[in-house]
Amino acid sequence: MSELLDVLGPQATQAAQTFVAGLGLHEGEAREGRPRVVVAMIGSADGRATVQGRAGGLGSPADRAVLRELRAASDAVLVGAGTLLAERYATVLDPHQRARRAARGLPADPLVATISRALDRDLAGVPLFGEPQARLQVYTEAEGAAPSRGAQVAVHRFEAGALTARACLEHLRAERGVRVVACEGGPTLLRELVAERLVDDLVLTVAPMLVAGTGRSVLHGPVLDPPVRMRLLDVLRGGDHLFLRYVPER
Ligand SMILES: NC(=O)c1ccc[n+]([C@@H]2O[C@H](COP(=O)([O-])OP(=O)(O)OC[C@H]3O[C@@H](n4cnc5c(N)ncnc54)[C@H](OP(=O)(O)O)[C@@H]3O)[C@@H](O)[C@H]2O)c1
Repeated sequence: MSELLDVLGPQATQAAQTFVAGLGLHEGEAREGRPRVVVAMIGSADGRATVQGRAGGLGSPADRAVLRELRAASDAVLVGAGTLLAERYATVLDPHQRARRAARGLPADPLVATISRALDRDLAGVPLFGEPQARLQVYTEAEGAAPSRGAQVAVHRFEAGALTARACLEHLRAERGVRVVACEGGPTLLRELVAERLVDDLVLTVAPMLVAGTGRSVLHGPVLDPPVRMRLLDVLRGGDHLFLRYVPER
């Protein structure tokens, strides 16, 4: 386990890079039939995933740096439709990260994949869908046109009842060549990934806040019984935020 580091200030990006490098994503092999899945979530000290309906109120510059480094090191970002809309996703990387990826022969931006069964939400209204350099993969069971306002959007339709997180991951591996996925939730999608044993690493940021209320917790859905046990592999400190790297016990 690494020493606790303070990553606030100008060293934030470098420390975030070191922390993410510790996950070994570049060497990381895909899992059987699917990509490796690294989840990044932030929760308040009492486990809530939002402040006023969004995760942003829990974050910090160090948290943003870690999240963006995880994206930069991944072939694809996977995010549920609820999160894509609530967080109003836009440009997923900073220019220096895009340049670094391009220098390694990778597409400058990771693919962004999302799941929406009914496709009846205003996905096209999410800023990312209007960015010409953005590459998006939408998984659904619904008919209808691809939601786009200029982004490169591919839609894969599953038969009714066949749309699962596992099926999406298998498609990303087989059809889009994805070896490593950074999953940014949200809580509903993450519960399914955990229940289906599809999470390989969890980077959980604990924000120094108490929120209470009835908003989403980091996982949302039926109780996991028995609970999924995790091992703590690494800890990083950024100011008063803590970054915890867990792996599930197998
Ligand atoms: N603290 C954090 O780190 C963090 C991270 C992410 C999100 N959040 C917050 O969480 C909230 C959103 O929560 P959420 O649980 O609604 O988000 P979510 O998990 O991103 O989205 C859930 C939606 O995604 C689609 N979906 C996910 N898995 C599916 C599957 N296997 N099959 C079919 N559809 C699937 C469904 O959309 P359809 O209904 O369109 O079918 C479902 O309603 C927001 O307030 C956001 O700010 C917090």
